[in-house]
Amino acid sequence: CGIVAYVGQKQAYPIIINGLRRLEYRGYDSAGVALLNGDLNIYKKKGKVADLEEHLQDKELKSTIGIGHTRWATHGEPNDINAHPHFSASGRLAIIHNGIIENYNSLRKDLINKGHEFLSETDSEVLIHFIEDIQEHNNCSLEEAVRLALTKVVGAYAIVVMSKDDPNMLIAARKGSPLVIGIGKDEFYLASDATPIVEYTNEVVYINDYEIAIIKDNELKIKDTQDVPMTPYIQTLDMELEAIEKGGYEHFMLKEIFEQPRSISDCMRGRLNASTGHLMLGGIREYANKLVNADRIIMIACGTSWHSALVAEYVFEEFCRIPVEVEYASEFRYRNPVINEGDVVIAISQSGETADTLAAMELAKSKGAIIFGVCNVVGSSIARNSHEGAYTHAGPEIGVASTKAFTAQLTVLTMMALRVAHRKGSITERKYRELLVEFEQIPAKVEKCLELNEDIIKISELFKDATNFLYLGRGYNFPVALEGALKLKEISYIHAEGYPAAEMKHGPIALIDEEMPVVFIATRDSSYDKIVSNIQEVKARKGKVIAIVTEGDALIPKMAEFVIEVPSTNEALMPLVSVIPLQLLSYHIAVMRGCNVDQPRNLAKSVTVE
Ligand code: G6P
Repeated sequence: CGIVAYVGQKQAYPIIINGLRRLEYRGYDSAGVALLNGDLNIYKKKGKVADLEEHLQDKELKSTIGIGHTRWATHGEPNDINAHPHFSASGRLAIIHNGIIENYNSLRKDLINKGHEFLSETDSEVLIHFIEDIQEHNNCSLEEAVRLALTKVVGAYAIVVMSKDDPNMLIAARKGSPLVIGIGKDEFYLASDATPIVEYTNEVVYINDYEIAIIKDNELKIKDTQDVPMTPYIQTLDMELEAIEKGGYEHFMLKEIFEQPRSISDCMRGRLNASTGHLMLGGIREYANKLVNADRIIMIACGTSWHSALVAEYVFEEFCRIPVEVEYASEFRYRNPVINEGDVVIAISQSGETADTLAAMELAKSKGAIIFGVCNVVGSSIARNSHEGAYTHAGPEIGVASTKAFTAQLTVLTMMALRVAHRKGSITERKYRELLVEFEQIPAKVEKCLELNEDIIKISELFKDATNFLYLGRGYNFPVALEGALKLKEISYIHAEGYPAAEMKHGPIALIDEEMPVVFIATRDSSYDKIVSNIQEVKARKGKVIAIVTEGDALIPKMAEFVIEVPSTNEALMPLVSVIPLQLLSYHIAVMRGCNVDQPRNLAKSVTVE
């Protein structure tokens, strides 16, 4: 979900709507705003922010204070009633909430026993009733009531509360869900991330867990839930407005795919220089030895980030000779994982806010592991709670299907591995230098892949009506097959599976007939001959083969219906190149099917619930 709020001299509604549009990638099944114009009014609507706007076209929306929300449903189906904001029992208070209140059921029962009635099925409505109940019962300030309520709440939240009685006050708090406050001149902007704020001010305060922010009469105070005052730490945002706009592209996803030559270079900038042999990640210093001497590396992530971990597993094992385990954060955290001294954990997350990844990382930390964070969003929770780490510097990723964040993750993880290998001496100086030279050429090679766009549009046209797709790869290209399949599923809703090519014969081969498109990622590498045999196995069953091959391949074009040629590189770096045509293929198929590629149904960019 995304939250945004404003208090100041300007009209709040346009700022909030604009902010919600920027945050829509975080959730988009319903949206709403609360404004104070004499009365405290809440307007909400199932659907996109645009539906809300339309609904409000001829409403009187004057107010210099307001809160807004775009939702990704957790409790209760997406509809007008469950949309945020929610009122308290008296209608005097309104709340927006991102996260989950785990003990909401027992709080709800207690309140029902006291006579409360609830309109929605949400935990958020329970919270605002609870806050008001405490305020009435204790006859205290709203600020104190929020604080007391939060000491009783189990779960994750970022909230903003406004009151009919005070047109100059917003109270916000966070635990587990992100919250940023932008400070303007006599005005404050609150949001789940900096994207709604950047066009107004670049001075921000990131609220920490267990902190409550009280904005009253032009002043920001912060305290913790134990009532201890804290000093707001004002930071300067390093984000350009153009980075969060579409810049002439039809969709954010396409823009982000095309940005990759630059985002990969940005990620390498100052860190890698092949001519001098320099490779250094500034964020990994004090604990660098822990990584070099690790007995085992555990990588935890979800979704696309999990796929980049799988590629990194191969890279670390090959060059550093350190055993690596790649874990789904959600599985790792709910068993009793074995973590020994000498194990290090790398937590990988674009948003840096994924609830499962954050919790898995905290679990590992509590068992004594050293944690390195690999995040894209600067100042995010995972980044802040790791011991050390490296940012991916891909710039804001708005399209829900991750593209440039994936290649940036691969870039950072590969740099980490090569640095470790070099320090350990598990790689020869010559090989190391050779790899750095190759690595530096990756942005140019990605650029060449983007020139394939027109060819890929033609292929997409032919396969857009398929109901299933199989993606097969081996070695370094196996995780690329998984990622290709995930991209297609996410945005085109075509069922797709990724498999190690050799595993095909243990099951998926049964699915192959003349209707089944099979995408082979079959670039020239150490398993080339083997994958050629796999292509023949598919051909023998009349499957339609689309093959991603290395430029100049003479053999596979004779077998496959369609080939997409990508530049050659070292096999460890190939995923950075071979994934590009797969991103384009899924993008074009989804567009041709009329799907909303930037905001696919049921998905959210940043999953801050478990
Ligand atoms: C969501 C997104 C995916 C993303 C995954 C992990 O499911 O839709 O694109 O890969 O979360 O997110 P993270 O921010 O931790 O990389």
